[in-house]
Amino acid sequence: MKTTGFAGRDFLAETDFTPQEIKTILEVAEELKRQHGMGIYHDDLLRSKTLFMLFYNQSLRTRNSFEAGMTQLGGHAHYLDPTKIYTPALEGKEVAYSTERVSDVARVLSRMGDAIAIRCYGDPVEWEYGGSHALLEEFAKWSDIPVLNMEDDIYHPFQGLADVLTVKEEFGGFKGVDFTMSWAYSPSVHKPRAVPQSAILYATMLGMNVTLAHPKGFDLAPDIIKQCETYADDAGGSFKITNDFAEGFKGAHAVYPKAWAPVNLFQPPVGDYDFEKSQEIMDLYKSWKTTSELMDTCDKKAIYMHCLPADRGYEVNNDVMDKTEGLGWRSAIFDEAENRLHVQKAVMSLLMK
Ligand code: CP
Repeated sequence: MKTTGFAGRDFLAETDFTPQEIKTILEVAEELKRQHGMGIYHDDLLRSKTLFMLFYNQSLRTRNSFEAGMTQLGGHAHYLDPTKIYTPALEGKEVAYSTERVSDVARVLSRMGDAIAIRCYGDPVEWEYGGSHALLEEFAKWSDIPVLNMEDDIYHPFQGLADVLTVKEEFGGFKGVDFTMSWAYSPSVHKPRAVPQSAILYATMLGMNVTLAHPKGFDLAPDIIKQCETYADDAGGSFKITNDFAEGFKGAHAVYPKAWAPVNLFQPPVGDYDFEKSQEIMDLYKSWKTTSELMDTCDKKAIYMHCLPADRGYEVNNDVMDKTEGLGWRSAIFDEAENRLHVQKAVMSLLMK
């Protein structure tokens, strides 16, 4: 395993790394997880180092896995609420004595710590698709230390890494794994596309047979779809899109049904930024809910996946979420959550050393 070439790099998107580099990160994560299970924490790896975590949105898993990961590696994770500092803002979006230009914030934090992690999507950038990713890119441009994407409006690269590690653990690899990323109903429209986009990018990059299922009007970004087609060709897997919910389950080894916003929700030129209309469109598809009957149509050893939090009773029934063991298909949701810790420790070890 070649682990050189990572130090000092940003992790804004999975596409920033080659498939081989992603495989290396997964191998390091597996090794750290194995050792964690034996009580070996490697608190010398990032001793005295600081990760600044800037959350424009709420979080349970991301905040706690980064924070616990830094503690286990001997460093410290520092939580920053953008409303309690001078909110980092791009040029042209500044408000006197309320915001601070991103270029200044990035350079100040670079003088004090060892990496900057940022979560920003949706409301803080008024659903301008690509707006929060631009914010992260501006941080990366001015920062002398790695910038990590804890979810923006395009990518959730650490969730995706945890997801594919879960698939690897379950099936021993990626070739021949039929993986379905599906839309599911939620009463909330406030859900970015980052999770499904990262999931299909990694799944195609690693050679799985990928199905993307969603109703009309919930298309993912065209450049992401094109990249998935290229990855599938290069890796020898496959990629197809269907508008039929049930089709995505039939015979699948891994199904990942979760809600995301309709195209309509985003600002022009992507959509028309209409929340009421978006809600009406969402409500047409209440039947896109994962039930045990649907799971029974998957492969016998299938796993149900979700990044969490899930909207119980809407996206999925309780009996599916809670079937974490026993015969037949099972829910792998807590494995995915746990794997956030291990993949992030792997990335931080490689990038922040
Ligand atoms: N899956 C995920 O990113 O969870 P949080 O929103 O709780 O961080």
